[in-house]
Amino acid sequence: MHTPVLLQQAIDSLDVKEDGKYIDATFGESGYSQEIMSRGGKVLAIDLDISQLKGHSETAHSQFARSLSRMTLKLVQGNFADIERIAKENNFDSVDGIIFDLGLSMGQLGSLGRGFSYKNLDDPLDMRIDVNSGETAADLIWRLKESELYELFAKNSEELRSKEIAHEVKISKKIISVSNLITAINRVIPYKSYNTYAKIFQALRIEVNDEFSNLRRGLEGAVKIINKDGKIVVVTFHSLEDRIVKNFVKNNNYKLSEKKPIRSKSGYKFERSAKIRAFSI
Ligand SMILES: C[S@@+](CC[C@H](N)C(=O)[O-])C[C@H]1O[C@@H](n2cnc3c(N)ncnc32)[C@H](O)[C@@H]1O
Repeated sequence: MHTPVLLQQAIDSLDVKEDGKYIDATFGESGYSQEIMSRGGKVLAIDLDISQLKGHSETAHSQFARSLSRMTLKLVQGNFADIERIAKENNFDSVDGIIFDLGLSMGQLGSLGRGFSYKNLDDPLDMRIDVNSGETAADLIWRLKESELYELFAKNSEELRSKEIAHEVKISKKIISVSNLITAINRVIPYKSYNTYAKIFQALRIEVNDEFSNLRRGLEGAVKIINKDGKIVVVTFHSLEDRIVKNFVKNNNYKLSEKKPIRSKSGYKFERSAKIRAFSI
């Protein structure tokens, strides 16, 4: 079963009010949306990955239909970078709370065929969240010069051996699958370093999906549609994402609910790097 990361703490930070309007900017496997509805909120949910909406909308709908039929859930396939437009088109342009739970869900990471996980060796190296647009990770690696790939790895992963890894990747024959990339990394690190695999894969995924820039645009859009007392909550998994949120709040003099980000106390591996920041404008 899918366990959304920091579910209770994240939704507590949203401060859900009966009949309030909320945007779940990252619907995923519907856990957050369901929790908001179970606390009495109406939800507009967005996801860039159409298979997430198709796969999990039924659970969310039936769950809420069973409990409280007056609640609503609207689902939209789209990029949260366009949150202002999507909200206005769906009559959710003055909302009581917005939540972003960044990255990928556990189901997406484990799913075959996209190349998100270093564990699925036979997968093509695609990594696009929206499979209908943009460049795949394989094409990105092919297009970038060695120095650009090095910069990408160093910036997005802070992996110390980024330079050697970029070199090995570029001297390999065209990298098209997960196993091709793992083989190139292994030439730099001759033992299995799952931590390095995870960092390099995440660095590529961030670039392929323009994740940092989407987050900035998402925050800029969110502050235009939030009510004065509404909360914007962001769950991050990467130190650079957290920095973007922190600086955005600071530079605009918005009000953080807590000075320090909320972190998990559960000790679950997948929650360890998660941080929650909540703020109002
Ligand atoms: C960590 S999961 C969310 C899990 C969700 N909170 C739950 O309870 O199941 C992140 C989701 O955000 C989606 N996503 C990633 N980038 C996005 C973007 N720019 N716009 C909209 N959705 C995005 C992913 O497809 C994924 O389904």
